Amino acid sequence: MLHSTPSSSFHHTTTLHPCSSPSLLSASSYSSSHHAWLPLRHFSFQTRPLRLNNLRTHNHFSLTTPKALKVNCSTSEPLKIMISGAPASGKGTQCELIVQKFGLVHISTGDLLRAEVAAGTEIGNKAKEFMYSGRLVPDEIVTAMVAERLSREDAKQRGWLLDGYPRSFSQAESLEKMQIRPDLYIVLDVPDEILIDRCVGRRLDPVTGKIYHIKFFPPESEEIKARLVTRPDDTEEKVKSRLEIYKQNAEAVSSSYSNITKKIDGSRSKEEVFKEVESLLSQLQQNKEIQRTLGKSILNTKKGSGSSSQDTWRGIPTRLNNIPHSREIRKYFYNDVIQATQRAVNDGRTRLKVDINIPELNPEMDVYRIGTLMELVRGLALSFADDGKRVKVCVQGSMGEGALAGMPLQLAGSRKILEFMDWGDYGAKGTFINIGSIGAAEVEEQDDLYILVAPQNAVGNCIIDNLRAMTNAAEHRPVILINARLKDLPGSSGIMQTMGRDQRLKYAASFESCYFFRLLYYAGTQYPIMGAIRMSYPYRYELYKRVDEPSGKEKYVILSTFPERPTTDEINDTFEGKPRNETRKGSGIWGFLSGIL
Ligand code: AP5
Repeated sequence: MLHSTPSSSFHHTTTLHPCSSPSLLSASSYSSSHHAWLPLRHFSFQTRPLRLNNLRTHNHFSLTTPKALKVNCSTSEPLKIMISGAPASGKGTQCELIVQKFGLVHISTGDLLRAEVAAGTEIGNKAKEFMYSGRLVPDEIVTAMVAERLSREDAKQRGWLLDGYPRSFSQAESLEKMQIRPDLYIVLDVPDEILIDRCVGRRLDPVTGKIYHIKFFPPESEEIKARLVTRPDDTEEKVKSRLEIYKQNAEAVSSSYSNITKKIDGSRSKEEVFKEVESLLSQLQQNKEIQRTLGKSILNTKKGSGSSSQDTWRGIPTRLNNIPHSREIRKYFYNDVIQATQRAVNDGRTRLKVDINIPELNPEMDVYRIGTLMELVRGLALSFADDGKRVKVCVQGSMGEGALAGMPLQLAGSRKILEFMDWGDYGAKGTFINIGSIGAAEVEEQDDLYILVAPQNAVGNCIIDNLRAMTNAAEHRPVILINARLKDLPGSSGIMQTMGRDQRLKYAASFESCYFFRLLYYAGTQYPIMGAIRMSYPYRYELYKRVDEPSGKEKYVILSTFPERPTTDEINDTFEGKPRNETRKGSGIWGFLSGIL
């Protein structure tokens, strides 16, 4: 039997993570090309100075900005790979081979910067002193270059291979904000002593752009040998400094991609290394093809006639029972909620609700993480604020007095937390974001949208009247309930409140789901997860089964989709593989699902 109200006895403290990361840069008109040493047929200096003062910075987790930079992640899209590793670990060498075989657009920040230096641009002049001393070039310069390059059509069409970026946690954050994520994060692992040897012996051919090594890959002729150049940052002293900087940042960067990281032993011959890389990429390509075929059938069944697709959805993350959830998993869900809610609001929907009960956000259990909920609310609020909307985030206040204060335990102190949260450095709080309570008195002329944090009835007190008054006052403006619990609770005397119950339930049902995510378990258990239901506006409800793979990993496989939230019988039948209209069975292993939703 499955049920969908997971609980857990795990405990942890959720830290509030400021969403701040300094720089997210919009695309400028800047244009650069590849390798400073590439021959002219590969290489054109269409470089125009980057106008740093034109770059707009954001501090929010934003879906809508910068629109031009959005990298489409549809299931049919080409490969998106990041390659990382210490200086001279062989990134450039492997990239040459990958490009030859897979035709991806190679974007190397080192090459882009060297091209700027060679062209003597403003950026080049700024970058030079950092590069030559083995330090990292400031984020705002590098991020703008990468964002611009990724936004070009060839990268979207052919896929990309990002080399040397992100190199710091804030760079990784910038990519996240732009919703740019690779399919695979390759780390070339090479011991330090080899690295120094490789760097010091590296030579570059300014005519062909080819990478040589005086010992390992000597040039083919005396003529080539005579024209080889050494990179100014390839001295032993500078390599050591670069290596140190790499080590300081490596862990923070790779933590952003932990579930898609593949570490490869880069100390072997370049052919051996490439064999492993090639096999990984080929496998990935095959998987994409399978997903594309599957994706077609999912998209064909989507609700409504809108043309938008779930093009940024990456499948359900795994290891959801591991608590605390990784930052990545939390962000994943925030992102999923934000996209769905934005679509619903953009479609003119005004009474919306989000229900999400991953263990960290399950409002019914002791693991209900107020910090995680607040992070979600912040992400959502800022995504609207980024669009210039004035958002009021409201938490219900006390509904009673003394021992019967009527404040649900989970919400105690949440208003204070909201007040103290980091809402960004750009003065969003107080202008675009305001904090209030649930009630008609909070509705003000200038508000554009309301986000209500987990409104819920408490024993003996019903939030619905306050809520109704507020939504009436809000009129046509969107009101979004996050993890509301509007079912009737017994009164303090233990007797169900019956007065006006029908109207209350009707009112509660008037909110349309714009996002729904629920894990499925056997009834009465909290482990293992059996599956999940997900709905992201305007698409259908999707029913997934969790499958353990022989490798020890797990995955979620879609079983079916539904126009409305599936009933317990429908879930049971689908898990049993019954055709949709078959008579429902009342018993059996899946048959005693009851009251799960
Ligand atoms: P960048 O050019 O990216 O330098 P790097 O990361 O230090 O990497 P390298 O180019 O030195 O090495 P590689 O791993 O590509 O190795 P390669 O294949 O050439 O960046 C340069 C500078 O730009 C940075 O220091 C920084 O200042 C700035 N910058 C760049 N990105 C930035 C960012 N995101 N943010 C801020 N600043 C940034 O191989 C090395 C040698 O080994 C070659 O001679 C090769 O022939 C040989 N070799 C390769 N593979 C093998 C093998 N398997 N066996 C034997 N030899 C091999």
